[in-house]
Amino acid sequence: MSDNNAQVVYSKVKENSVKFNSTNEVAIILAAGHGKRIKSQTSKMLHKIWEIPTVERVYNACKLGIENINTVIVVGIKALDIMDVIGKRESNKFAFQEHQNGTGHAVQVALKEIENDFKDGIVYVLPGDMGLLDDESMKKFRSDFTSSKNDMMVLTGLYEGDDPLQNSYGRIIRTKDSNGKVNGNVIRIMEYKDILALPDNKPYELIYRNQKYSYTRQELLNTKEFNSGVYAFDYNKLVEQINNISSNNAQNEIYITDLIEMFNQKGYSVGAVSPKEQYVVMGFNDKSVLKEMDEIARRNIYERLKNIIQIDDPDDFFIHDSIVSDLIELDKKGIPLDIKIGKGAYIGVGVKLNYNIEIGRAAYINGNIVFGKNIKIWRIVHLSTFPNQTLTIGNNVNILWGDIIKGNIVIGENSTIESSVNLTGSDEFPLRIGKNVLIKGTSYLFGSIVENNVTIEHSVLIKKKVKAEKDKNGNIKAIRFFIPDTEGKELLNDI
Ligand code: UD1
Ligand code: MG
Repeated sequence: MSDNNAQVVYSKVKENSVKFNSTNEVAIILAAGHGKRIKSQTSKMLHKIWEIPTVERVYNACKLGIENINTVIVVGIKALDIMDVIGKRESNKFAFQEHQNGTGHAVQVALKEIENDFKDGIVYVLPGDMGLLDDESMKKFRSDFTSSKNDMMVLTGLYEGDDPLQNSYGRIIRTKDSNGKVNGNVIRIMEYKDILALPDNKPYELIYRNQKYSYTRQELLNTKEFNSGVYAFDYNKLVEQINNISSNNAQNEIYITDLIEMFNQKGYSVGAVSPKEQYVVMGFNDKSVLKEMDEIARRNIYERLKNIIQIDDPDDFFIHDSIVSDLIELDKKGIPLDIKIGKGAYIGVGVKLNYNIEIGRAAYINGNIVFGKNIKIWRIVHLSTFPNQTLTIGNNVNILWGDIIKGNIVIGENSTIESSVNLTGSDEFPLRIGKNVLIKGTSYLFGSIVENNVTIEHSVLIKKKVKAEKDKNGNIKAIRFFIPDTEGKELLNDI
């Protein structure tokens, strides 16, 4: 893992930042914090949910939820690692927060970075660990904000636990009605640590629109409505106020949350909304919550697919998000997919599935793998490619138990690869297998070209051209046991 050298980080920020488009909406994603409680050498922001780093998931939710939105990712601790993973993206800039002086400070740094590129419009702020936030929720948050005509809005959640001392979220403080019922406008957000620091015996008082409201310490602690850390602001009002935030609080940090009270005091309007699903506001500080989020992601994927394809075990499978979208698109054509996914099967990014595919238990399929129709992949088969390679499997191909097939390969239609076969194709020596080919068990083929209709029995073939030729009865001759010339014989001694 890299250490940050400020000069190096600043130059990487430049290198990886891409020009904004003219859209007047920007999302600032906060990813500079350290996340000590995750107990890992890897940045918290790069911890994965359903195989995608959490910060990338937040980024995706913004990009997919709000068309053409510009984005800024604020990096700090492990900045180089995060930029290495995210790299250059359309209309995305990075901003370097050298010292983590709080969420408000992180937003100051981001706004400074874009001051010449962005003038007027909406600014969203999001924490990089809210990995279950999705495009639908962003779409809804945006329309809630624009239709409310508020100057700022916060996305809130409801704490589901019973112990207020386990709830470390910032609390949403609302006005009370004449019966003392808390249900009105949002006055301010108060951090858990600042509530803890309040005196026990004296009520906490707030003035809102010339009226005084008072709360006991316990009442504030018991508040269930919490701040998710997602906000929308009118750009000009945000810029006007952002440098006025003080760090006069229990953590001596510049809190973005102070803006709620500051906006209210200015007479600007502040709104609060909840998402449709509570889970989207989850963030994680430790491994167990991350695991919970991963499980929610899996259940969501299962829900989306369960009536389109057959997934043998809803608790044990992996299908990458991008393939889920492909399958939903394919399903819209109205032709039944007839895809079966065995327990523990893994289908990674880049795989292109097709109609009538059966994938056996614990098969691992990852990379640019293009399936024809009517293909059966038996148990524990491994299919993979490097990012620059393609593995193409023709119609009606049968790939039996435990085969390992990797790299730049084409398998022609109606071919069968029996069990425990190992096939490899490199960039320099691709493997090409014709139509109606039968490769019998435990063969090894590397970088070879096999003509149509050939049968290969238990052979080792390295960089060979294999011809189809008929015997005197008109049957294609089988190929058996082709052992390559040995190399390094002088290095071997009998024991
Ligand atoms: C923050 C909110 C709290 C809310 C909670 C939701 C503040 C003051 N409090 O608290 O009301 O309930 O999020 O999860 O905002 N970050 C930076 N630079 C910094 C500090 C933080 O980029 O200097 C980033 C972190 O990497 C993280 C996000 O901002 O992605 C939130 O920071 P964190 O320290 O987790 O804030 P909380 O104390 O959880
Ligand atoms: Mg947090």
